[in-house]
Amino acid sequence: MNRVRRPKAAKHSVSPEQALRLAGRYLMNTYRRPTLVFVRGRGCYLYDHRGRKYLDFLGGLAVNALGYSHPRLTRVIRRESARAVHFSNLFHHPYQGPLARKLTEWSGLERVFFTNSGTEAVEGALKLARLAAHKRGTEGKARILALENSFHGRTFGALSITHPAKYRDPFGPLVPGVEFVRFNDVADLEAKFDDSVCGIVIEPIQGEGGIYPVSTAFWSRARELANHYGAALIADEIQSGLGRTGRPFAYQRHTGLPDIVVIAKPLAGGLPLGAILARETFAESFSPGLHGSTFGGGPLACAVALEFLSTIEDENLLENVRQRGSQLRAELTRLAGDFDFVREVRGEGLIFGIELAVEGKPYVEGALRETLIINCTHECVLRLLPPFIVTERQIDEFMRRFRQVLNKTKRPKSLPAELSESRTAAAASR
Ligand SMILES: Cc1ncc(COP(=O)(O)O)c(C=O)c1O
Repeated sequence: MNRVRRPKAAKHSVSPEQALRLAGRYLMNTYRRPTLVFVRGRGCYLYDHRGRKYLDFLGGLAVNALGYSHPRLTRVIRRESARAVHFSNLFHHPYQGPLARKLTEWSGLERVFFTNSGTEAVEGALKLARLAAHKRGTEGKARILALENSFHGRTFGALSITHPAKYRDPFGPLVPGVEFVRFNDVADLEAKFDDSVCGIVIEPIQGEGGIYPVSTAFWSRARELANHYGAALIADEIQSGLGRTGRPFAYQRHTGLPDIVVIAKPLAGGLPLGAILARETFAESFSPGLHGSTFGGGPLACAVALEFLSTIEDENLLENVRQRGSQLRAELTRLAGDFDFVREVRGEGLIFGIELAVEGKPYVEGALRETLIINCTHECVLRLLPPFIVTERQIDEFMRRFRQVLNKTKRPKSLPAELSESRTAAAASR
């Protein structure tokens, strides 16, 4: 076991035991967390309160693309926090404009609005799609199409276009005017698209849904129909974007730009920052007072985001994502051949889903005991989202130890095929 020196406790920090006790006593009960406390991270490793070192292949759920304590981000955070963490959005600061320009260069879109989170970016994108339709004077053009098996966030608009019942049903009634299209089903898309649609929202790779890429045929037809009916094609790149696939955006695998793109997660290296990117023809619908945010796009977050994107460019990290992605894919494919309960490996770049024929949770817990961090989505899909800085040796280390976890963990009962929602989605995608 790798032990490290315990760092000095920060001023307001309490003992790990107290931290767990106070969390149990005072926090709302929204997460199921293991009884350990992480105190710091460096590169692709995290350290808990006992000094145990963990190899992180979840990357803070796709946020920590440059790992932890990256020296370039740390330097900017120090510098900017000593200058100003926040001005109001009633005034300019030096970083929003350059960051917006860089995001337009990466995406091919033309205008940017900054938010604090992914779900807020989704809300803004839905508002923009409806606004653009209203401004064009198209009476009743307010329907929004989304995909089955989707996940877009937890606020009401984003929740209304999120498909699985477990997220939606406890909170109804949701926003009206939403209809779901079967995943990758072009005929269903054509049947549901008409002049009353103002926007269609697509994750180019469904993340929470179990790592399912949208097909080129589906994307192209959505682009054509959106053009034909004057609706917005909205790409939710919150999990798949900003380099995760080895391209700036996952939609760049297909031809046809979206009209609106939403991003967040890794943008500011872990500081809360999201954005709506849009073509001029949609962005022009906004005018002062129609949309806004108190915190979105503050100087500290924007300066760090500029440094994040520059680091990816300067250090050619998209190439690393592609190379390490190929290595990981080859290793996972070999592993799938060695374990009969591994049904399928899906993904590209550094976003992978390993679909099991059994429940995934015991493997996530087993991995954690072996100081590997992964997670499970959709009951049976183990998900890997390692940082873009991951090395060849770290992938070797991960695979060696992950194999041990699969070997050592007592095999859970097989999931009945009809209960495996991801199977349904997979069938639809073929
Ligand atoms: C595709 C997608 N959209 C939206 C969201 C919501 O983002 P946030 O949690 O930042 O609100 C997520 C979060 O996992 C996501 O993966």
